[in-house]
Amino acid sequence: MSPKAPFQRAADAPPLPTGTVKFIWYCVAGFRAWLVLMLILETGQAAGGILVPYAIKALMDGVADSSGSTVWESLKGPLLLLAGLNIAEIVFSRASGAVLVTIGPRMRKRTAKVLFAYLQHHAQRYFGSHFAGALAHRITETAISVNFTVWAMLCDFWPIFIAFTVSIALLLNVHQGLGLLVAGWVCVYVGFSYWLATRCQPYAQGYAATRSLVNGKIVDSVTNILNAKLFARLQFEQDYLDAFLDAEAQAARRSFWYMERVRWFQFIAAAALKIGTVYYALTLWHSGLIGVGDFTMSIGLALLIINDARNLSRRFLELFEYIGNVANGVETIVKPHEIVDVPGALPLKVSQGRIEFRHVRFGYEPNEPVFDDLNVVIEPGQRVGLVGFSGSGKSTFVSLMLRNYQPQSGRILIDGMDIQQVSQDSLHEQISLIPQDPSLFHRSLKENIGYGRLDADAAAIEASARMAHADDFIKVMPEGYDSLVGERGVKLSGGQRQRIAIARVMLKDAPILILDEATSSLDSVTEKTIQENLDRAMGRKTVIAVAHRLSTIAHLDRILVFDQGRIVEDGEHDQLLARQGFYYRLWTMQAGGFLPEQEPSGDSG
Ligand SMILES: Nc1ncnc2c1ncn2[C@@H]1O[C@H](COP(=O)(O)OP(=O)(O)OP(=O)(O)O)[C@@H](O)[C@H]1O
Ligand SMILES: [Mg+2]
Repeated sequence: MSPKAPFQRAADAPPLPTGTVKFIWYCVAGFRAWLVLMLILETGQAAGGILVPYAIKALMDGVADSSGSTVWESLKGPLLLLAGLNIAEIVFSRASGAVLVTIGPRMRKRTAKVLFAYLQHHAQRYFGSHFAGALAHRITETAISVNFTVWAMLCDFWPIFIAFTVSIALLLNVHQGLGLLVAGWVCVYVGFSYWLATRCQPYAQGYAATRSLVNGKIVDSVTNILNAKLFARLQFEQDYLDAFLDAEAQAARRSFWYMERVRWFQFIAAAALKIGTVYYALTLWHSGLIGVGDFTMSIGLALLIINDARNLSRRFLELFEYIGNVANGVETIVKPHEIVDVPGALPLKVSQGRIEFRHVRFGYEPNEPVFDDLNVVIEPGQRVGLVGFSGSGKSTFVSLMLRNYQPQSGRILIDGMDIQQVSQDSLHEQISLIPQDPSLFHRSLKENIGYGRLDADAAAIEASARMAHADDFIKVMPEGYDSLVGERGVKLSGGQRQRIAIARVMLKDAPILILDEATSSLDSVTEKTIQENLDRAMGRKTVIAVAHRLSTIAHLDRILVFDQGRIVEDGEHDQLLARQGFYYRLWTMQAGGFLPEQEPSGDSG
């Protein structure tokens, strides 16, 4: 985020702030009245708790001074006060608990929801450089941490603040010197606790970082467990992990030792306050400056303060951790969206399906262009094959058409409309892609195919499955169309996964069809039959088909030969063969490999 460039975010995305505090404030929008209620309840609870020593003082005064009236008469008031304070503490604290239970889960849900909605609008490049698991973890972690931050402020720091203020006020009322002593102690203690917590924070963060590193290493190792087994490297993996576990243990030890030191400070400071107050109050009582009741109350208040203060450093540390988590989540997710719809973007309406690349320059890294001034026109209804060596830019060409990436310069036009000026949803509705490595949702086969058209009925879904030759293998699965396919579709074979992807796209029936090695995982018999169905499904559509097996695209209207990001040959199969250039060499090599008896010829084989 450079300060010059405006922060770009998709219009449909929630307007999440980038500052941590503002972000938390945004997340509690809609719950603020509840939070104020909680603040009031927590105040009541804290005041109830802190006034207990005051009631005890009244009791003591009553006991000490029960001459004249009966003991019961003089103790009735203070006893009732004591009972009332206890009841108030219970009622306030449980009412606050009820509010927390009421809004806590809703607040967390909302935070997770807005973060997910924001995340969805990131471009391909973003998802290429962040792990899916890590992002999912970030969302839940951030949502929890927003809640914890709010609770820490409302239920920890605020009551402590109230308790300290009320106690000091009471003590000042008893005796100014005593009040000032405790007030001074509180100021020094809070300041020092805060300072210690900031000093401890790097250790705590280091510990958290090693924990998440170990986590990542275990996930990586489990994901690659088959590699470890096939290379007989189980022990190697254990030793490998051991080094990271050691680092974690070391970081933990460092962090815990620091906390131990903090506890030394706390215990000593607490003892000093206790002894100091007792000694000072005793001398005051001895010189007749305060009564027995005041003496008891002072000790009671000192103990209360110590009790509250004891965990202050840890609470600061926890608060830093929560805020750190939120900051981390915001930093990871609330980044500018790389590709957004222009304001007032029109929907793309494909009536013909003419595609034009005009002076397109693009590189994944701006100074390493894949395409440098690429120009090509694909006429309406034309069926075009893309061929070329691995890494020559075929998939990149397709990605640019789908606006997964933005060209550094130049324009891509569909039916005369610049795809940068139309809405991405409409663009994606009009173009179907069967990707090189299709992945499926871990949902039923029915849902995976039905994804192509959400209102499709069972008959339509089965019809497109038949067209993609997926029907046969689905029917024999134990749960048929209701079978689940595993994460990304791992429970299917590569060819089966490909056929589900084809069925999904057939159901979608968009006017422009892109096949990136769509049938590469199929055996030649299945491929041939699907190819026929695909050809029929193509109808009058504009089709772009990427293939390494040239026989699958030789019959198309036109072939573009890519070499290092340039289109080096362009024409029909026969013309290209006749030219005896790049395509001819590819063709003869493959023909040599697959059909040793045949002379390279115009026959598509
Ligand atoms: N996400 C990416 N980030 C950075 N570079 C990439 C990315 N995807 C592809 N490339 C690079 O861009 C170049 C073109 O890749 P592309 O995937 O378009 O090739 P291809 O022709 O589809 O190859 P294949 O036949 O192997 O699928 C390659 O040098 C590749 O390394
Ligand atoms: Mg490719």
